[in-house]
This record gives sequence, structure tokens and C-alpha cells, in this order.
Amino acid sequence: MTANDFKRWRRRGVAKLYVNPKVKKGHINPELQGHFSEHLGRCIYEGIFVGENSDIPNVNGMRKDVVEALKEIKIPVLRWPGGCFADEYHWKDGIGPKEGRKKMINTHWGGVVEDNSFGTHEFMELCRQLGCKTYINGNVGSGTVQEMSEWVEYMTFKGVSPMADMRARNGHEEPWVVDYFGVGNENWGCGGNMRPEYYGDLYRRYQTYVRGYDGAHPIAKICCGPNSDDYDWTKKVLATCFDHGNGFMNGLSLHYYTVPNNWEHKGSATGFDKEEWYATMDKTMYMETLIKRHSAIMDQYDPEKKIGMIIDEWGTWYDVEEGTNPGFLYQQNSVRDALVAGINLNLFNKNCDRVKMANIAQMVNVLQSVLLTEGNKMVKTPTWHVFNLYKVHQDNELVESILLGNSKVGTEKHQAQKITESVSADQNGKIYVTLTNASLDEEEDMTLTFAESKVKSAVAQIVTGKMDAHNTFKAPNKVVGEAFDVKACKDGVDFLLPPRSVVKLEIALK
Ligand code: AHR
Repeated sequence: MTANDFKRWRRRGVAKLYVNPKVKKGHINPELQGHFSEHLGRCIYEGIFVGENSDIPNVNGMRKDVVEALKEIKIPVLRWPGGCFADEYHWKDGIGPKEGRKKMINTHWGGVVEDNSFGTHEFMELCRQLGCKTYINGNVGSGTVQEMSEWVEYMTFKGVSPMADMRARNGHEEPWVVDYFGVGNENWGCGGNMRPEYYGDLYRRYQTYVRGYDGAHPIAKICCGPNSDDYDWTKKVLATCFDHGNGFMNGLSLHYYTVPNNWEHKGSATGFDKEEWYATMDKTMYMETLIKRHSAIMDQYDPEKKIGMIIDEWGTWYDVEEGTNPGFLYQQNSVRDALVAGINLNLFNKNCDRVKMANIAQMVNVLQSVLLTEGNKMVKTPTWHVFNLYKVHQDNELVESILLGNSKVGTEKHQAQKITESVSADQNGKIYVTLTNASLDEEEDMTLTFAESKVKSAVAQIVTGKMDAHNTFKAPNKVVGEAFDVKACKDGVDFLLPPRSVVKLEIALK
């Protein structure tokens, strides 16, 4: 914003969001809208994979309704098989004839039998149907270097080799593309309870054998990063591994969940009060602090920002729905979750110079899901509808946007910024603005202005409702994306941004 622009804004006195499409701030990787699916509860089994013989309509075992709904939001990348499950997963148990696959107990998640009927071939088939990139999370906690190295060979080597031959014998002659490979998951916790220096050394060793067999499709290697605000982990892991040249580490993960109260009593997904609403907003905004602080550490080692921050687990985590298996982490999803999604996705966009991927936890039936299923029924959650609004940002350029006159909303205990926003431009110069209003009861008088440009047309959509409004199998369309009235005026676009809302505008400039 130039001094003149600012003076003009002050004179008008009403503008809240100033956009300068000429100032590009970074590329918005489609992967910022990525997903995560773990062998946990009813995410993979029932939620995605029902098997070829199911009565539920499927293609090669994958639910048609779920695949279609995910394609609609342009799912860019999918992380699998965990989570904590990844560091207990032995990939060879999940290949070959199904009747011969090992059965095991999923000790982390509900103590149920895992029959390994969904394995590497099924995951790759799912990603083929979805048309999305693949993110495989390897096992460092309880797996060997050989096991990890052979998995990569099995999936990606084209030629004569023991693993490539085994893949062909199992029905897939051609190698697959692995876009991202995680070297362990939460190795500070469920992935082995390691100290950062120790994990850092293991990372150096294990990643060596994540070979890039396919020159045309290099595998991006993801190092296990911190839990929330564990800055010491980030510092020590980077100090141990950052110095090994290109391709040694392409990303460092960060996990952060929005838990309204505390881990013992997280709070209910639908029965909550004003205090919990604002606690949720406040704690969601904490993501911004985490991105800034971990980025500052990363900048010390990697000032050119070659290593992406990979926020491969984020979302709300509430008490499980009553009457469900506590190890299955099933929860409802309301307008509050829509806000959490909108705020986080805006924050990822605004920090796209460093944040290169983010994966909501988890895709179906677990934590902050975009879809819920029950038998042959499926509902799109309010979070799905927010992803549906935000998909227009994928692959765009973030442009300069300055929000003026923002305020804090909340209670004495918990406050959050009322408005968040991000603005992008596509290749044709069309502008996309997404906004959230976290206030429970106050609208915001918004004006958008554009540097040196007038508005030709503007259309908008909104996701809003009562604070705990949600979609059920009986009433699946309580909270959906709806048309929202905005007015193109002489200087930009005017509208009232309702409380509890997520809004997207598509704007053509003259
Ligand atoms: O998403 C649920 C669990 O949360 C994952 O398995 C783990 O990585 C994290 O602690």
C-alpha cells in the first residue's frame, strides 16, 4: 500500500480490506488444502473402503459417494497410513492376495482387528480415482531402514529388482508416483518417544534410502517436525539435519490441533457455550503464532525457504461422540468447525511462502472430517462446504491484502481476531477473497478496495448458521454454501459480513 493509497483510504473512512493485485506474495500450493487418512476408527474402513463385494456402490472397493464428494473439492493430496498407526505399520502385511494378509490388533485406535485389506495397492488406487498426489508416511518408530527402503523400491522402481518383481507379481507392473514421503510420524511421541537429536540422526540415516528412482518424479522427503509449540524440537532437529544439500529434506512437519478446553476434557462437538466458541477461535488463531515462530527458526537454517513447512495434522479435536468407541475419535462438525477451517486455510494462504502443504485431520469419520458416513449414507460437513468455497485459491498467487479496522471479539478469558482474510489472483487476473467473521453476534461493515482498479463484477457465497448448527444423516443440508449478496460500487465491493460466517468473493476487475 502506498502512502497515497493509505491517505485515500483514510479519507473514505469505511474501507476495511485493501487489495493490491499487482503485488504478488507467493504461490498457493494446492496442497495447502490437503487431507489425511489413517487406519483409525471408520476413516479407511467404512468411510472410504468398503470392498468390492459391498452393497454400497463402489469402484474397486472405494465408495463412489465419498470419492465424488472429494473430487468436488479438488482434493490435491492424501496422506496415509497414519498418524500413530504409521510407526506400527509394516507394509508387507498389506500386499498380495487378501486372504493371506496378516491380521493384527490396532493397538493405538480402539484395539480392533486390522485385516490389512487396505494396503499399498488400494491406497494408490484410491489416489488414482481421486486424481490427487500421494503422501506416504513411513515407519521409523518400529520399522527398519531396510523395510522403508524396500517400500520405496516396491512403489517406485521401474526395472528388474526384487521389489519391482514382487509388485508385478501382485498385479501392478508399472511403478506408481510417490509425491511425498514422511520419514516417521510424531517421533517425539507415539512414533518412538525420541529426543530431537536422536531422531535427527535417524532422519539422516533413514532418508538416505528413500531413493529417487524416478528422475521425472522426485520424492519430497518430510522430516518429523514439532508438536505445537515445541520450538526446541525444531531447533535441534534442524541443527542435526539441515546441512545436507538439496533433496535431503524438502519439508518439516508441524502438528497442531484446536482443543477448546484441555486434553482431559476437550469439550463437546455440538453442546458448547459462548465461552467454548471463543476458546476455539482463540486457540485456532494460535496457529498463526506457531507458523511465525517455527518459521523464524527455519529461516535461520534455510533463509531461502527451500524447506516447506508441512502442517500435516490440523483441525478440531473434541470429546468423542457419546456411545461411540472412544478409540475411534468420531465427532460431529458444526458452524464452529467451518470457522476453524476458514481461519486456518486463510492463515496457510497468508504464509504460503513457507507453508507448502497442510492436511486436515482426518478426511472421513475421524476428528474434523469433511465427510461423515453411516452405512450407505454420507453427509458433507460444514467443513466440506468451506473447502468447497476455498478450492478456487488452489494454484493461484497470493496478492497483497491489508485489513484495516479489525477488532478483537470474545469474552474476558478468550479473545480472537474478528476477521481473517486471504486474497489470491488466478492466471486471468480474477480475484478471490475469503473472509471469516468469528463474532457470535456482530456483523462487520466491509468494503473491499483495489489499488488502481475498478470492479467489473462480484459474486459471493457464504457458509453460516447458528453456532452449533450441523448436518445429520436425517437433515444433511442444514449448513451448506449459499449465494450471498454483495454490491459492486464505485470504489470496490460493499457488504455486511454476518457473524459466524465464512465468505468467498469472486471479483472481476475492469
Ligand atoms: O489424528 C489422530 C492422531 O493425532 C494421529 O494418529 C497422531 O499423529 C496425532 O497425535
